[in-house]
This record gives sequence, C-alpha cells and structure tokens, in this order.
Amino acid sequence: MHWNAVAERFTPPARLAVIGDPIAHSRSPQMHNPALKACGIEAQYIRVQVPVGQVAEAFRQFAACGFLGVNITIPHKFEALDAVDVLDPLARQLGAVNTLAIRDGKLYGYNSDGPGFLRSVKEVFGVEVKDLRVLILGAGGGAGRAVAVQSALEQCPRLVLANRTAAKAEALAAEVAKFSPKAEVKVIPWTDEAVAAEMAGIDLVVNATSLGMKSGDTKLLPAEALQARHLVFDMVYRAGGETPLLTDAKRAGAKVVDGLTLLLHQGAISFEHWFERPAPLEEMREGLRNAVMT
Ligand SMILES: NC(=O)c1ccc[n+]([C@@H]2O[C@H](COP(=O)([O-])OP(=O)(O)OC[C@H]3O[C@@H](n4cnc5c(N)ncnc54)[C@H](OP(=O)(O)O)[C@@H]3O)[C@@H](O)[C@H]2O)c1
Repeated sequence: MHWNAVAERFTPPARLAVIGDPIAHSRSPQMHNPALKACGIEAQYIRVQVPVGQVAEAFRQFAACGFLGVNITIPHKFEALDAVDVLDPLARQLGAVNTLAIRDGKLYGYNSDGPGFLRSVKEVFGVEVKDLRVLILGAGGGAGRAVAVQSALEQCPRLVLANRTAAKAEALAAEVAKFSPKAEVKVIPWTDEAVAAEMAGIDLVVNATSLGMKSGDTKLLPAEALQARHLVFDMVYRAGGETPLLTDAKRAGAKVVDGLTLLLHQGAISFEHWFERPAPLEEMREGLRNAVMT
C-alpha cells in the first residue's frame, strides 16, 4: 500500500489513527477530530484495519508517513507491547499498549485504559479507587487485567475477581497481589450464588467482559444482588442504548458509569501523550455524544 499517498489524500492530512481488526465500529475519530479542530491542529484522525501479526510493520509505516500517534484496540494491544522502542513502565505493568506516540521517528508505548478508568470513577462517582472494594467480572482479558492491576497499584483494600475461565483469574490474582501486598485479593467462581454472596463486601462492580453489547447476551449477575449503595462500571458501550447491567443497576438505585465515559477519558489521556497539553474534554465528549446518536 502507498501509505504516504493515502495519508495525504485527507484534508487536513491524516496524522493520527486507531488500529484494530475489525475497526469500522470505532468511535474514536468522532471524538478526536473535534479535539484536533478545537486546538487548531492541522491533522486528521482515521481508522486503519491492521491484520494480526502486522502491528510492528504498521507502526513502521505510520512513522515513515509522519504520523504523530496511534491508538490500538482489540486484538492488537498485546502485540503492540513488543512493537514499540520505549515502553512506559505503567504499560508494562498493565500488560498492554493502547497508545503509541511517535517522536523523532521513535515509538513510545503507553496504556491509557487504566488511568482512564481511574479518571472515570473520580469524575462520575466523586471517589477514588483506592477507597473502594472492587469486583471485576471478566478478569481474563486485557480490560479486566488493566482494571485489576490499576486498582491494585492504587492500593484498593479488596479486589475480587471472577472469570468464565477461572484459571485466567487465578493467574491474574497471583500477579496483582505483587502490586498490592496489603490488599485482600480473591478469586470466586462465577455463579449467581457466589457473586451474590460477595456483594455485601463490594463497593464497585466492573464489567470487563464483552457481554452486554448485543441483546440476548447472558446476564452478568442477578439483578437482586445490586443495591443502591453500589457503584457500577460497565466498560462496554452499546450504540443507541444502555447495557442490561446498567439498566438493572439504575433500577436498584445504584450510580453508574458507561463505556463511553471510559472511551472519553482514555482518549483524553492519549491526546495528552501526543500533544503534551490538556485535551479539550468537552469537545471530545460532544463528539462522542453525536457519534452514538448517528
Ligand atoms: N470503553 C472503553 O474505552 C473500553 C476500553 C477497553 C475495553 N473495553 C471493552 O471491554 C471489553 C473486554 O475487552 P478485552 O480487551 O478485555 O477483551 P478480551 O481480551 O477478548 O477479554 C474478554 C473477556 O470477556 C470474557 N468473556 C467473553 N465472552 C464471555 C461470555 N460469553 N461469558 C463470560 N465471559 C465472557 C472473557 O472470558 P474468558 O477469559 O473466559 O474468555 C474475558 O475475560 C470489550 O467489550 C471492550 O470493548 C472498552
């Protein structure tokens, strides 16, 4: 592919991108392009589909074409770890790279999902993760790992992990315990009974699975297990609607955060890495709001 020719075909020219496979669903351009415009930056943010196994080659092409940065989404966040020149220590701990900054041809890898999770909790719930007892449903994938490690790094007092494939949650628990020696870290079987029995000792419930995106997806936990004092964070976002978890949580009187809020804050942190200035959060929020309505 003639990447230079493709990048220049855009007005303003493409200098930022999100890569994934598939990628057509990504709302990141609708969030970042208004931010670039608001800051008077003559660049455009585009989607690029990159097949598995070609992340390092894609990064090289982006650098050769004068790109400033790239976001990395499913399934490339792990492959990206080995494709950068300089890995940020937090990205190493979180085990994934979702933000690439290209400076003087050198590739710097960051993770903004973990810090974006912290900012979302702070903005919407007005509390710090360090003060919360956290339950993660789906502690087997990249998102669950980022939230678990970030919560442990914050020294949250209690971390309970559940995953369909229990062995993955066990492995994560062993790793997470190293970051937070004082916290109680526990793995529970993912059954309605086991989850319900834990809820009295939990403040924040996080869905880190992909369940809830489609109607008909299995319920994550029995609705009766949720109470008004719970904070519920669904990393999933659903175009044109709310996930069943958030519907159940609101009915119980609980406070909720959706995946769009996380998308916003992780995007803002990526922007800060690229431009070393605060992101225009309200323009990004407005862009996302418009994107989910179309
Ligand atoms: N809003 C945002 O900005 C943002 C950021 C990051 C991620 N996310 C979302 O978070 C979700 C997870 O992402 P990821 O990167 O962690 O994906 P992943 O690496 O593919 O992990 C998927 C997780 O979901 C579990 N899972 C999948 N299908 C399941 C089912 N039918 N029943 C029970 N558990 C199931 C998996 O369990 P097993 O281990 O048993 O397979 C695993 O724990 C995605 O929906 C992603 O879009 C959102």
